[in-house]
Amino acid sequence: ATPLYLDCDTGIDDALALAYLLASPEVHVAGIGTVSGNVSAAVAAENTQALLALAGREEIPVAVGSTDPLRGTFAGGSPDVHGQNGLGGVSLEPATARPDPRDAVDLLIDLARQYPGELRILAIGPLTNLAQAIEREPELPALVRDVVVMGGAVLAPGNVSAVAEANIANDPEAAAAVLSADWDVMLVPLDVTMEHTLDELGRRRLLEAPEAISRAVGESLEAYLDRYLQVYGYRACALHDPLAAALLVGTVQPTRAPRVPVVVDHSDGPGRGQTIADMRGQRRGPVDVPGARCQVVLETDLQVGPVLLDRLAG
Ligand code: BDR
Ligand code: CA
Repeated sequence: ATPLYLDCDTGIDDALALAYLLASPEVHVAGIGTVSGNVSAAVAAENTQALLALAGREEIPVAVGSTDPLRGTFAGGSPDVHGQNGLGGVSLEPATARPDPRDAVDLLIDLARQYPGELRILAIGPLTNLAQAIEREPELPALVRDVVVMGGAVLAPGNVSAVAEANIANDPEAAAAVLSADWDVMLVPLDVTMEHTLDELGRRRLLEAPEAISRAVGESLEAYLDRYLQVYGYRACALHDPLAAALLVGTVQPTRAPRVPVVVDHSDGPGRGQTIADMRGQRRGPVDVPGARCQVVLETDLQVGPVLLDRLAG
């Protein structure tokens, strides 16, 4: 199985992605780092470890990452979307395992050295830890196989401003560094994640699943579905992070994913946090410009909802 480092801000859809990864024999979750986003990095680690305990996978190291973005301070997360505790108010039994003594940045660097050329990274929160890791170990991009990032809005509207998506908006400086580094990035933006949803029927299947972690995520989805109803007018939630996970695992394949230069606006203007993809030409092969090794997923062969439910709810 392919070694994987997961960087997350757990988070309801992060929890679903985690449950899915644990149920995927194609990957071996070698370590998890947390970052502030939906909740603080510390709370994200508590949530992650509680979920791992439910899955009987407490041996997976979980390291707490940066609380603050590269510039400024953590703004307090999104309790309106993910609940105060990040899991829609569902309280899980706290894990007995302690967080790894390393910070998330050192955990990532250690894993990249342990699995040179093999380690894959899945980033489903703000990109602070990844940017700091490149800074601390400039060889990192050469050591890892590739990076899959849930983030951005390329042609679609943003979800925290007219143009910015939450993971990028929470740390645009970090996103700029990660998307311009010398490695292969697959960007999974709102353009495609908003097209992949789960509704109450799907939630009920999770509630009846054999695995405790699937049932817990099913419970936490209640508040998330309510939030979507409130904001978008339909009670079905987007599967942002699970789609990125399934694209990494390969159970869902991109069918339209141009390789185009992407830059991140990290100015202080109204565009802050925007992912600007140069779609002119939509070149498919590698091109020789900064940021060009970024593949932007716009369409996929399958809906991730049924793929997830197959693995999590039998
Ligand atoms: C992203 O932001 C977070 O709220 C979700 O977990 C997802 O990673 C969607 O914009
Ligand atoms: Ca997330």
